[in-house]
Amino acid sequence: MRKDHGVSEFRIVVLASGNGTNLQAILDQLHGRDGIAVVGVGSDKRDARALRRAREAEVGTAEFPSEEFADRAARDLAMGDWVEGLAPDLVVLAGYMQLLSPGFVGRFRDRIVNVHPALLPAFPGLDAVGQALAAGVDVTGVTVHYVDEGVDTGPPILRREVPVPASRSREELETALHAVEHELFPEAIRTLAGDKARIEESDRPPVADR
Ligand code: GAR
Repeated sequence: MRKDHGVSEFRIVVLASGNGTNLQAILDQLHGRDGIAVVGVGSDKRDARALRRAREAEVGTAEFPSEEFADRAARDLAMGDWVEGLAPDLVVLAGYMQLLSPGFVGRFRDRIVNVHPALLPAFPGLDAVGQALAAGVDVTGVTVHYVDEGVDTGPPILRREVPVPASRSREELETALHAVEHELFPEAIRTLAGDKARIEESDRPPVADR
């Protein structure tokens, strides 16, 4: 946590590839509140709507399109340097649709979180909604989890069930999942920010030693 004028700030960098509705929920519910700040938004897509949302909130952005780098490791090295320069407490994947290289994961170990539209370990990877519908389940959900080197395999932080609508309409299910994501993800991040603040506080020397 960086201390500005004696006040601790919980700094978040968000990576997003697409529309950025989860980024928007984070900006609306967390940014500038309770000592939490979104300090940068990065994307692998130059035209990601998420980047526009960041600019509208006056948050700095950076783009790391695949075609500019020799391979994923090279992209993640450049992206990691940019992220590290922002000194984040947490790296948040909000619809970031690229697998991160082991180098990037190792660099920010236990500080990367992701939201996934399924009850992991069920339906990891791409098109979790399509997978759930094809499997014929009546209940799916949303998982917020830490990111490790695997595809959606890191330890879960919060999970919430979402019933599959009777119509089994993809659009209806996606709307329901998004609504839950927009509550659950900020809730999980707020909890992590709070835990960090408490840990920092308990690290402080007793009053007599200050
Ligand atoms: C979200 O539904 C998120 O759970 C999913 O991408 C969507 C991004 O929406 N992520 C994954 O499937 C990751 N495996 P958004 O751009 O509107 O936030």
